[in-house]
Amino acid sequence: MDWWTHAAVYQIYLRSFQDSDGDGIGDLDGARARLPELAELGVDTVWLSPVHPSPDADFGYDVSDYGDVAAVYGGREALRRFVDAAHALGMRVLLDGVFNHTSDQHAWFQSSRAHPDGPHGDWYHWHDGSRPPNNWASTFGGSAWSRDAASGRWYLHSFAPEQPDLNWRSPGVSQAVHDAMAGWFDFGIDGFRLDVFNSYAKHPGLPDNPWRTDLLGRLARLVYPFFAQAHVHDRDRPELATILAQMRALSDATDHPTVLVGETLDERFQYDRAADWCGPDRLHLAFHFRWLHTRWSARGFHGAIAAQVAAFGDGRTPSWVLGNHDFRRLASRWSDGSHTDARMRLVALMQLGLPGMVVVYQGDELGIPEGRLPRSAIQDPPGKRFWPLYKGRDGCRTPMAWSPDVHGGFTTGTPWLPLHSDHAARNVAAQRARSDSVWSTYQAMLRLRRTHPAVRDGVLVLPEEAHAQLLTYRRTSAHGSVRVVVNLSRATVDWTLPQGERQGAVLLSCGTVSSEDGSLRLGAYAGLVTEVERS
Ligand code: GLC
Repeated sequence: MDWWTHAAVYQIYLRSFQDSDGDGIGDLDGARARLPELAELGVDTVWLSPVHPSPDADFGYDVSDYGDVAAVYGGREALRRFVDAAHALGMRVLLDGVFNHTSDQHAWFQSSRAHPDGPHGDWYHWHDGSRPPNNWASTFGGSAWSRDAASGRWYLHSFAPEQPDLNWRSPGVSQAVHDAMAGWFDFGIDGFRLDVFNSYAKHPGLPDNPWRTDLLGRLARLVYPFFAQAHVHDRDRPELATILAQMRALSDATDHPTVLVGETLDERFQYDRAADWCGPDRLHLAFHFRWLHTRWSARGFHGAIAAQVAAFGDGRTPSWVLGNHDFRRLASRWSDGSHTDARMRLVALMQLGLPGMVVVYQGDELGIPEGRLPRSAIQDPPGKRFWPLYKGRDGCRTPMAWSPDVHGGFTTGTPWLPLHSDHAARNVAAQRARSDSVWSTYQAMLRLRRTHPAVRDGVLVLPEEAHAQLLTYRRTSAHGSVRVVVNLSRATVDWTLPQGERQGAVLLSCGTVSSEDGSLRLGAYAGLVTEVERS
């Protein structure tokens, strides 16, 4: 089986992971020093948020040079040391490939804006005229078109004005991106997470997107037009298939097995189309984020799993992402105020027991809550724009806490964002010391993923009907089966194993669980992973 079909990925948000030089910003040497702790946690792949030089209008997602590594992160040499150290520990490294747009400071954009007839003239989407050519809206608010002050021409940016969209219809663009990707494959990286890949291709005629007619869409039109449109002309275009096939050919031609994982954009939070872009001549995987947008409920979680399984079918590998650097921390999203740790332990059971790729966002293995920041501390552009309606993404990007030391051992300087307030108690060292902590539960589940054949490779059998309080599924393999059962409610719940199933050894349990002759009793927020046999 290919490594990526069951990879356990850890997302390192580099700025907030570990600082090594006291400037308050995480860097690659700092991250390298923490790799043994990630190996101990049990992940086998790390994905680094963008490492390239960037003016940081969107914290690295506005790249000004794809061939280099930012000095603030330690430069190319530091990435060399990081990748070598990861490989020595048996871990793989994914870079964040941000190829829908560049920074407006990128030499390509500077040349494109200054010389419409020059070599980069058509590398971006330009429009002459007194008004933008269409109604397309930016993900970060307002129109997706801004006027270049010098030339008076309009250019397209699906995100911030400092992030002009590349024109993938220009052969120069695909060649330049392929060169950049090939360069990093040669460097030895093991793949890319492809930022908003389903936005690369735009309708060549740039027609208006239709406005949504449902109530939510109509309400959004004035405040946040991006949400009010059906993105049929600037997203998931058929031309994307060719772009992805070419990228896949590059990945297939490397001398070591590499992977392309797409980050899917879908303002309606459905994500089923992600499956269309996976396959032998497309991406290996694409994120289906439905679960991330689901409220804490057994029916909701069951539905989110079922939706991805239905969309991806048997032939494509699913991936399970519950948190990242763009969304409210799951410990806050899924908290009832008083059982955070119990709930976060169940998250580990539910997520890490599933087949396919699992992605853990740094700090979720500690149950770090969403940071509460005063307006003066807000750094994220959409947060600055929409405060207090939307406070941006800084709250899920606060630094890691490694120890009870000052600033959690993250930095000896002043952290670029404040840490979570309970970091003196909620840190890696403290949680490693307790076998019932969130961190230790992640570790135990990750160990099962590596060592238990059914957890590693078993086929997922999800009940057709959701239960009101429990989430349960079975993983079946030639070497036995396991069942995951978690009680998402505060009530004690009795549950009987399905007919024909006998309980075997309990591999892991959280909270109060008892069982007798196939009848389970699960206390509030209790859960277990147990072997089962067909009787
Ligand atoms: C992706 C990234 C997000 C970024 C955006 C624009 O959604 O995850 O952080 O702002 O793309 O690059």
